[in-house]
Amino acid sequence: MSINSIILAAGKGTRMKSEKSKVLHEIFGKTLLGYVLDAVNKTGKIDNSYVIVGHQAESVTEFVEKNYENAKTVLQSPQLGTGHAVSMVCPELENFKGEVIILCGDTPLISAETINKFIDFHKEKKSDLTVMSAIFDNPTNYGRIIRKGENLSAIVEEKDATLEQKSIKEVNAGIYCLVWEKIKPAFSQLKSNNAQGEYYLTDIISWAVQEGLNTNAYILEDNEEIFGINSKTHLAQATKMMNRKTIQKHLDNGVQIVDIDTTWISQDTEIGADTMIFPNVYITGKNKIGKNCKIGPFAHLRGDVILEDGVKIGNFVEVKKSKIKSNTNACHLTYIGDSEIGSGVNIGAGTITANYNHFTKEKKNTIIEDGASIGSNSVLVAPVKVGKSASIGAGTVVTKDVNDKALSLTRAPQRMIENYVK
Ligand code: UD1
Ligand code: CA
Repeated sequence: MSINSIILAAGKGTRMKSEKSKVLHEIFGKTLLGYVLDAVNKTGKIDNSYVIVGHQAESVTEFVEKNYENAKTVLQSPQLGTGHAVSMVCPELENFKGEVIILCGDTPLISAETINKFIDFHKEKKSDLTVMSAIFDNPTNYGRIIRKGENLSAIVEEKDATLEQKSIKEVNAGIYCLVWEKIKPAFSQLKSNNAQGEYYLTDIISWAVQEGLNTNAYILEDNEEIFGINSKTHLAQATKMMNRKTIQKHLDNGVQIVDIDTTWISQDTEIGADTMIFPNVYITGKNKIGKNCKIGPFAHLRGDVILEDGVKIGNFVEVKKSKIKSNTNACHLTYIGDSEIGSGVNIGAGTITANYNHFTKEKKNTIIEDGASIGSNSVLVAPVKVGKSASIGAGTVVTKDVNDKALSLTRAPQRMIENYVK
């Protein structure tokens, strides 16, 4: 099946009050646009994606080119409406035959499962044009779905709607699936004689109906999935919604989460069964946590963290870009960054991997091999390696590699001044 996607991301996002493009704002270290592109790719059905860019086009293009091989950006300037935006892709898809799905770049909660169900519905109905709809108690600002019997007959924007149409609670979710070669001619015929003076994408529906094509609407099951971001408030709300879904998935998979209200887990974190997550844990970015681990309370995993089974990461421990093998403990007040740590290692309280050189701006690696013991309050100045079963005395600053089974310490000898207090 050959499907292409078009993702609309040219709009300004004024209400974000930001110099950054709206779609490059992040939730758990991943951009809004990244969520949409990942969901589209996870369907396993999409060949290429075309991201329509306009405002801050340069930074969005850079992001897409750097991160997505099967996506490219297409410039829309000026931005004359959603229909005009899609028409920018017409030259790219001149000879394409097959389905195109259209989504927005600012709806990070959309899931691959929903997109797949939507495409399946489109296929079952032998539809030429399918719109995703949602039922809202308060449909204000959305385009309203006008049906004729079962079939979709038009979408009317809020600003163009009659009072009677405004009372319709079924709205346009802004996701479309179309048989490209059949709908493509519509894009050269769109008019902007409406309340907003824009070329509306939604006008392709009445066009298709007039052409005698098969048009349908698919009702979304979970309205949260089309939650669109227009402000920093929306960004915070979306983060909460996403977190709640992620936590539910892990609970269903057998992860024990003590306090769902203070636990934050990014969508791209895998966690094995019987791992326990204690309160006030923040896990961002992409991570893989094994089975029977204990994380927190008050732990921070910052991404690119791999924890094998039975690892303990305790309170006030931060881990970034590191691999920690099975049954290793870092239970208190520690920073582990750019490190590779073996199994059965004990990392004492207050241990720091000093991975960053402020002057060269370089980050270096720390390696700690199986069975080593790192005494409390030690600093491992990277690059450095601690060998198998080596022991580091408490308070040591390790700047040279430590051999297997050796004891290394930089502690000043303890002095005793008798009767000093007297
Ligand atoms: C649009 C729909 C509306 C639907 C709603 C769902 C139209 C005419 N209306 O309205 O029926 O209920 O989405 O959220 O399509 N964009 C561009 N170029 C443009 C204009 C917009 O790329 O010239 C992008 C925006 O960045 C945004 C998306 O298209 O990601 C939607 O645009 P927006 O103006 O927010 O559409 P709505 O008015 O909300
Ligand atoms: Ca608009």
